Amino acid sequence: MFIIDDRAVHDIDRHPGIAACPRRRPTTVADVRKRSAAFVTHEGVRYALAFQPRATDVFIATYPKSGTTWMQQIVHGLRTEGSMAFAEITEVVPWVELAFDMCVDLRSPQGALPRAFKSHLNWNLIPKGGRYIYVVRDPKDVLVSYYRFYEGWRFEPGSISISTFARDLFMKPGAVSWYWSHLASWWEHRYAPNVLVLSYEEMKDDLRDTVRTVAQFIGCPWDDALLDTIVHQSSIEFMLAHREKFDDHLVRQARDAACDLPPGGTSAKVRNGRVGDSRLELPRDISEELDAIWRRTIGSDFGHRSFDSLRAEIASKSRSSLFHA
Ligand code: A3P
Repeated sequence: MFIIDDRAVHDIDRHPGIAACPRRRPTTVADVRKRSAAFVTHEGVRYALAFQPRATDVFIATYPKSGTTWMQQIVHGLRTEGSMAFAEITEVVPWVELAFDMCVDLRSPQGALPRAFKSHLNWNLIPKGGRYIYVVRDPKDVLVSYYRFYEGWRFEPGSISISTFARDLFMKPGAVSWYWSHLASWWEHRYAPNVLVLSYEEMKDDLRDTVRTVAQFIGCPWDDALLDTIVHQSSIEFMLAHREKFDDHLVRQARDAACDLPPGGTSAKVRNGRVGDSRLELPRDISEELDAIWRRTIGSDFGHRSFDSLRAEIASKSRSSLFHA
């Protein structure tokens, strides 16, 4: 039951401004942009770009909402034999761009090897010299996941439609954060020996195979027992059961006030993890606009007319690399 103290009601009557103007999340895309600008400071960006990795460092490099947290859990599990001794995954696998603003020293030992980091930087900006796991996901599902993630944290639920979010945020070209330019920057390097490209959809299809491929790539010895543990602990059911370890609460604690966001938002990184939800959630015109952007970017530059075609190349590449291992 929700009980309101009589004295509190009385106080509000005496200060009508408080009741009329509670501190709210943004309700327009312009305000989302304005407040989000403070999320990473200039010093934070400079600090991230100046980081000098070791050759053994592993960067989980993704466009947001593509399975970053899932891959953090897999890599951390592999290097610690499944340790869950962390408050939130960002504590043990730090986020490069946000480290400075979260008072994290990227050079610190991580208590397990190899050191692992999360980043949403594109290839051009990411600190060079380490190893990189790039996970790509169908942009339509990324858009839906992004919308649901922002709703209730970065904007008031119900205030911005998915079409507005798509047109005015997701599809608007940005300097470093446009899905298609981000993908293009990494795709150029898909055959480099220090880059492992996987798709979210492939991870869903065969998690065990993914875990084995990642173990091999990061040089982590594995046996069937370890694979069993990591597959279990990176299942959606397990991660949902431990959702507080994957909910960005440390990030919110560090950055909400800077972004003028009220506390108590939701930022769960594990939702339903389905492939193809966008078919139900996206209006047809938005879906067609996304197809058109794909064709004139990835289609024209790399000859992949659709995401499925790109995904097929990833699948054949990982099959052949396993074959040669
Ligand atoms: P949905 O919102 O579509 O469910 P990121 O970590 O890059 O922000 O990606 C978040 C997406 O990865 C969310 O997608 C989330 O549910 C999904 N995800 C997280 N853990 C997962 C798991 N164990 N299996 C499948 N999907 C997972």
